Amino acid sequence: MYKTIIYEKKDNIGVLTINRPEKLNALSNELTEELERLLNEVENDEKLHVLVMTGAGEKAFVAGADIQELVDRDALVGRRVSRTRQEIFSRIENLPIPVIAAVNGYALGGGLELALACSIRICSEKAQFGAPEVKLGIIPGDGGTQRLPRLIGLGRAMEMILTGDFIDAQEAYRIGLVNQVVSHDELMEKAMELAQKIAKRPPLAVRYAKEAVNRSQEGDSVSGYALESYLHALACTTEDKKEGVQAFLEKRKGTFKGK
Ligand code: COA
Repeated sequence: MYKTIIYEKKDNIGVLTINRPEKLNALSNELTEELERLLNEVENDEKLHVLVMTGAGEKAFVAGADIQELVDRDALVGRRVSRTRQEIFSRIENLPIPVIAAVNGYALGGGLELALACSIRICSEKAQFGAPEVKLGIIPGDGGTQRLPRLIGLGRAMEMILTGDFIDAQEAYRIGLVNQVVSHDELMEKAMELAQKIAKRPPLAVRYAKEAVNRSQEGDSVSGYALESYLHALACTTEDKKEGVQAFLEKRKGTFKGK
């Protein structure tokens, strides 16, 4: 069904593997189209609680846009490709369920931007991160100039984007680009553990929380606070809320239905 990605479901967790290892999982137009198709599937899957994303092979998560396709990219194509990928990455950021990036190697250019669109990033000790676009005479076009400074601060984002230098996993952890660094062989196990933990939480509360936290990035705190209070109120109407509070008071584990 897909050529450049692999999608599997493990109970209520979706696992997406970017699958062009011979090109270090570089983001081609075909891969972008397949990602878009997968998003239609994921967005309509009510049973899914978490999506985990990783790269095939030992070396890369995604080593950026496919540089072969840059050869003929003029201003018109550049604008269209950038807008399309921005939209797709925003759909990932705004999926109702959390998305965990399990960064198994190079996350460069569009690969870094893809990881930035995820809700949480964990990485292997072998991972490297960078925004090398400037070295090719271009700039990030898939949301990186906006998401990177929000996550790691203006000065650090400037340095990464202006120099194009890579940083290693420990530095990425130190500056808050990733939440955890784990051994390479344990990466998927740890990512799945985190996914399973979140998947066990009341699903509606998780969705509302993600939406409210995402809103904090838009800079309009008045509507952010308002949205938070409405989503909080909505969560108060759920059966899961009744169960969660009752279970705590009765000193037992809650059983949640997503209702
Ligand atoms: N687009 C297209 N092909 C890419 C690619 C990309 N972004 N990144 C790697 N590849 C290809 C290489 O051309 C090579 O293909 P080949 O075997 O047919 O020659 C293959 O993937 C393996 O890459 P290689 O460069 O041999 O691996 P390496 O371990 O020596 O170096 C990197 C790894 C990531 C440092 C290096 O591949 C690189 O700098 N890639 C480009 C990163 C980049 O600038 N991305 C942003 C684009 S906007």
